[in-house]
Amino acid sequence: MLMERIETGIKGLDELLEGGMPFPSVVLVAGEPGAGKTTLAMQSLFHGAKKGEKGVYITALSEPEDQAARFMASYTFYDQAAVDEGLVRFVDVGETLLNDGPHQALEEAVRGHIMKKGVKRVVIDPISPFSYVFNTLTDYRRFLHEFFLIMRGLDTLTFLVAEYSPSEITNTEKWPTASYSSTSSPPTTRRYSSPASR
Ligand SMILES: Nc1ncnc2c1ncn2[C@@H]1O[C@H](COP(=O)(O)OP(=O)(O)OP(=O)(O)O)[C@@H](O)[C@H]1O
Ligand SMILES: [Mg+2]
Repeated sequence: MLMERIETGIKGLDELLEGGMPFPSVVLVAGEPGAGKTTLAMQSLFHGAKKGEKGVYITALSEPEDQAARFMASYTFYDQAAVDEGLVRFVDVGETLLNDGPHQALEEAVRGHIMKKGVKRVVIDPISPFSYVFNTLTDYRRFLHEFFLIMRGLDTLTFLVAEYSPSEITNTEKWPTASYSSTSSPPTTRRYSSPASR
């Protein structure tokens, strides 16, 4: 069976990927600060919006929710109408993360925003604030594992944005997500099932 692909809207990238990202999938967008990670992820959200697909941009930086929107407004792909119509939504779960912990923040993001009818593209940018609230790397990895299983069980293209230095990028053993490539087998655990209406 041919793998379904979803266009990112970035022409050269879609050509390289022979039609776009696998769908559904969870994709790690890793790079140095300023590499263009947010831009890539946002461009994909607005490309989806042009086709009527809903997209959610989730951050946990506890910055004003419209900060990302304001930054993005300078790009030609930014479409205020798509934001006004709710096709592209900006969500900040930073408060919940700090006050109630990572599992609550995840719950809020998934149940409150990602599992809404028609949501096809998700961006978590960046994932690092989630790592800061864990005392051990093991606990953080366990959390990421749970998160990946949930996201892999949904009909979405999810971009996880992470900052890595050039040396870390070449040392893939450090990547918490390395074992979750798009070719890995589907999750066996699905704590969150897609709503019937989707
Ligand atoms: N494809 C591109 N071509 C040229 N410039 C780009 C491209 N993508 C992004 N930029 C520019 O590079 C700068 C950084 O982009 P962006 O904020 O997307 O990077 P980032 O990787 O998310 O950075 P950070 O790690 O700080 O969040 C911006 O000024 C943006 O306009
Ligand atoms: Mg960024």
